[in-house]
Amino acid sequence: MTSDIEANRILWDVRARVHGRTVGDRFYDVPSFLAGRQTLYGIERSLAGDVKERDLIHLHCHFGMDTLNWVRLGARATGVDFSPVAITRARELAAQAGLKADFVEADAQSLPKHLAGRFDLAVATYGVLCWIGDLDAWMRSATTTLRPGGKLILVDLHPLFQTVATLDPFVADWPYGGGQPLHETVVGTYADAGVTTEALDVVQYPHSLGEIVTAAAGAGLVIDNLSEHTETEVDPRGILQQRPDGLYEFPFSVTKLPLLYSLEASLPSATS
Ligand SMILES: C[S@@+](CC[C@H](N)C(=O)[O-])C[C@H]1O[C@@H](n2cnc3c(N)ncnc32)[C@H](O)[C@@H]1O
Repeated sequence: MTSDIEANRILWDVRARVHGRTVGDRFYDVPSFLAGRQTLYGIERSLAGDVKERDLIHLHCHFGMDTLNWVRLGARATGVDFSPVAITRARELAAQAGLKADFVEADAQSLPKHLAGRFDLAVATYGVLCWIGDLDAWMRSATTTLRPGGKLILVDLHPLFQTVATLDPFVADWPYGGGQPLHETVVGTYADAGVTTEALDVVQYPHSLGEIVTAAAGAGLVIDNLSEHTETEVDPRGILQQRPDGLYEFPFSVTKLPLLYSLEASLPSATS
């Protein structure tokens, strides 16, 4: 029988094959990336600060566009993903772009020992923790990659935003946290609504903001900053309202509800 993680890996292998290869892809425009397009958003860039000469591990790197953009900003980057197809494509993309990065195939909940204690920054962004069954293991694993004084930067969809199924009519039908596995059959991809893929059974795990921050603290991290963002540069699920200034938000006139959260947390250095 296929395990939950194996089922999810099959989905991400399929998506890693498709993304960036269809005309209607909203996220992964490879030619413009190769021409120099920056794919990182303001939130993670400002939290990371100047990454020149910094050792950065990018967890859930998919096929490497963001990892390689950290390299363009001067970091020495290692991308990690559990999808072998994503890792193969990431290596090919690095070669095409003429950029140097390491790519490692691994489950982010149990990273290999050779990655331990080597990084100034561990970064994971947009579509990360809903795939993680063991949140404590993920946080411990991310933390072990850091040098003392190193930082975890996590930017992800806010658990409240994930509860929302549709905006018109307003329907919320996902648990706000709890971490219980939710089985679902998925067809297609968020990157291109016009693409049909085979129907696949996958498993997601809702984690509340409290559970996420508690797991980070439990892994030995000190919370430096937790922010909830009510406007975004990107509409990750294709359901938000775009304002005249180009940013996206929930389509409510007064009430501002969070779409993303960002967490900055550090591994204390031995002397602090
Ligand atoms: C939504 S994508 C992240 C996309 C990334 N922000 C980007 O735009 O390139 C989620 C990624 O998490 C990876 N993933 C899911 N579960 C994982 C796990 N347990 N360990 C490592 N990677 C995992 C998937 O293969 C996929 O590449």
